[in-house]
Amino acid sequence: MGFLSVVSALSLLTSASAIGSSDFTFTRRRAVAPRSFEERAQTVLPAADFSVAVSGKAPRRKSKSAALTALRGRPFPSKPGSGGSDTVPVAGSDFDEEYLTNATVGGQPFSLIIDTGSSDTWVAQKGFNCFDLNGNPISEADCAFGTAGFDPTASKTFKPFPNVSFNITYGDGEFLSGPVGFDTVSVGGLTVKSQEIGVPNLAAWEGDGINTGLIGLAFPDLTSVYNTTNPQDASAANQLPYDPLFFTAVKERAVKNTFFSVALDRGSFEQQENDPYDPNLGFLSFGGIAPVPVTSTQVTIPVEGYSATTGIPSSAKGSPFFFYTVNVEKFTFPGSAGILTANNNTILDTGTTLDYVPTPVIKAFAKAFDPPATYSEEDELYLVDCTAKVPQFLVTIGGKEFSVDAKDQILPGGTDSNGKEICFLGTQDGGPDEADNIFILGDTFLHNVVATFNPIQGEITLTQRLPY
Ligand SMILES: *[C@@H]1O[C@H](CO)[C@@H](O)[C@H](O)[C@H]1NC(C)=O
Ligand SMILES: *[C@@H]1O[C@H](CO)[C@@H](O)[C@H](O)[C@H]1NC(C)=O
Ligand SMILES: *[C@@H]1O[C@H](CO)[C@@H](O)[C@H](O)[C@H]1NC(C)=O
Ligand SMILES: *[C@@H]1O[C@H](CO)[C@@H](O)[C@H](O)[C@H]1NC(C)=O
Ligand SMILES: *[C@@H]1O[C@H](CO)[C@@H](O)[C@H](O)[C@H]1NC(C)=O
Repeated sequence: MGFLSVVSALSLLTSASAIGSSDFTFTRRRAVAPRSFEERAQTVLPAADFSVAVSGKAPRRKSKSAALTALRGRPFPSKPGSGGSDTVPVAGSDFDEEYLTNATVGGQPFSLIIDTGSSDTWVAQKGFNCFDLNGNPISEADCAFGTAGFDPTASKTFKPFPNVSFNITYGDGEFLSGPVGFDTVSVGGLTVKSQEIGVPNLAAWEGDGINTGLIGLAFPDLTSVYNTTNPQDASAANQLPYDPLFFTAVKERAVKNTFFSVALDRGSFEQQENDPYDPNLGFLSFGGIAPVPVTSTQVTIPVEGYSATTGIPSSAKGSPFFFYTVNVEKFTFPGSAGILTANNNTILDTGTTLDYVPTPVIKAFAKAFDPPATYSEEDELYLVDCTAKVPQFLVTIGGKEFSVDAKDQILPGGTDSNGKEICFLGTQDGGPDEADNIFILGDTFLHNVVATFNPIQGEITLTQRLPY
């Protein structure tokens, strides 16, 4: 998710800085030995067992400031992809900032954000207390969940996990905490019987009136359950890492093959600007590759773990995994020659709307637009003329070049106070090119590929989609 992912990214930085301290231990390790380059090159992806349609809706953004606030101020959920045997349609909302999927938890239906940038699956609990981001109590309606919340007492399958707490803070300042339990979670034909979930009774959430929670698809070490009855006492020392939804699905043998896959469609410019709800914005699939037309450009790459001593990406044996971190070999665009564009600390994040690249990369890329894109101090974003000519943009991963469509580089930002249409760049500044700074390939990039994740093998397969 956009900021949600950024938040998760921030929480990684926190863990990384805590890594040197004596009370921090990693309890999960790389599940299997990495395969060789030759073995990976022979990866053949099966068709998905299940795919789900996704839908979502959100209030229209009338003003530029509302749109930009929305962009910065809340998680950018991702659409689920279907991989394996289940494929779900994904719907988008909030200028397609969010990819949502229908799911049931304990038989109760919810729309949930799909996020490869975090690991916890949670649904707000019925009767929860809503807070603003400063921690002041506000009315429940202001959290803008899509339902009154999950009712554990109405679920025949819910089992509480006593004496532990869920506690998560996302990068934009949204936070949730409360009890934990196990229940049956179903998404698009995939049913996981005993999934550990957060059922927060405290929420500071800037909702869209549709989602009531989130499905986290990243690694166990990034989960947020702690061995304490008081969520305020959560710390690295009492973290109880657990299996996220897809890991449980694999253990319960609910998928034939250990893949999940996302194909996230971009909405049209018109839809993004005017239509609050897109019922069908791609697929979340389980067990194989999401069912959309693709080209022959495909590569399978290892997920990068992180060093327990330095907190920077490491391929050493036993390095814990947090995110779907990849090694970007280069970005190519007019003017990119001579700039260091490689970065091995870049995550694939369905929950983040935009791409966030190192400062030198975005500075040069902004100049390549005609007219050039400019950085707005006020908005803290690169803005661009809505009719600007978009330069070609290629991302090289695993030796293969993946192109990003021009349509993903200019996004509608509503209108300013004079009624003038505002647009922002699909690629933004992710900060200085420092080893421990995490960069993001979000929906801007993901609209152009099918991303098929094999977290058990620690691999990702990227397949370029046919233009659409
Ligand atoms: C998701 O659920 C809502 C509410 O039940 C329904 O209106 C919508 O059609 C569903 N979307 C999909 C893609 O199944
Ligand atoms: C939970 O904590 C309470 C109080 O410390 C204790 O009495 C109880 O046995 C604990 N329950 C479990 C399942 O550990
Ligand atoms: C939580 O910590 C207590 C000791 O403080 C320990 O007895 C208990 O087994 C831990 N619970 C879990 C689920 O690890
Ligand atoms: C979550 O834990 C942190 C300490 O790690 C604490 O400062 C914060 O208040 C807790 N959040 C909630 C909502 O309890
Ligand atoms: C990633 O790059 C850093 C330098 O920025 C280097 O120290 C580290 O070893 C690299 N990690 C991997 C897995 O290539």
